[in-house]
Amino acid sequence: MKVSVSILSAYDELISAVKKVNESSADFLHIDVMDGKFVPDKKFPIEVVKDVISISKKPLDVHLMVSNLDTIKKYALLKPEYLTFHVETIKDHLLINYVKSLGVKVGLAINPETDVKVLMPYINDIDLVLFMSVNPGLGGQKFEKKVIEKVKILKKSKRSNLIISIDGGLNDKTINLCKHAGCDMVVSGSYVTNSANYDEAIKNLR
Ligand code: DX5
Ligand code: ZN
Repeated sequence: MKVSVSILSAYDELISAVKKVNESSADFLHIDVMDGKFVPDKKFPIEVVKDVISISKKPLDVHLMVSNLDTIKKYALLKPEYLTFHVETIKDHLLINYVKSLGVKVGLAINPETDVKVLMPYINDIDLVLFMSVNPGLGGQKFEKKVIEKVKILKKSKRSNLIISIDGGLNDKTINLCKHAGCDMVVSGSYVTNSANYDEAIKNLR
């Protein structure tokens, strides 16, 4: 199981959190960009992400909770390993094709209430699906078990090299549901960043 650590809940002590992720066995650093429209909060403006990039030793997994497609294009130019935006924000393949043309891997995130069917027109053209197991916008929320059914549906119909990731409410208990459903990757925020030892928490998720 790949582990991507979200530093959202450590926003007030970002530099220290990025350094702790650097020293851990985390596979990716997950950045939660919020625009104050798609979700109420505003976090990780592009200048802050540039600062994070300058100190991070991990590949970046950027999760854009934003509704403006031009904003998505701007973050794509930072060339993270994965750029994930929400399926609820797009109507066609144009943005996916643009991000891919930059050599950046594309993820599509899907909210808990959105039908998994809306992903189907895109699954042959993306690298990752990010199932939201909480309503996006906040760290430290409760894992929504019903999302596991959607993971299973996609798992049946997916291509073998599409990465299935899940984000929100992950801990040493909820991880088991994700493993059984066949997730390849998990995003964990507060469970890791509130722990005294990042590496031990990460190990409990693998
Ligand atoms: C929620 C974010 C998550 C969040 C996860 O909107 O997308 O990445 O930081 O935090 P935890 O693991 O605390 O639910
Ligand atoms: Zn996220």
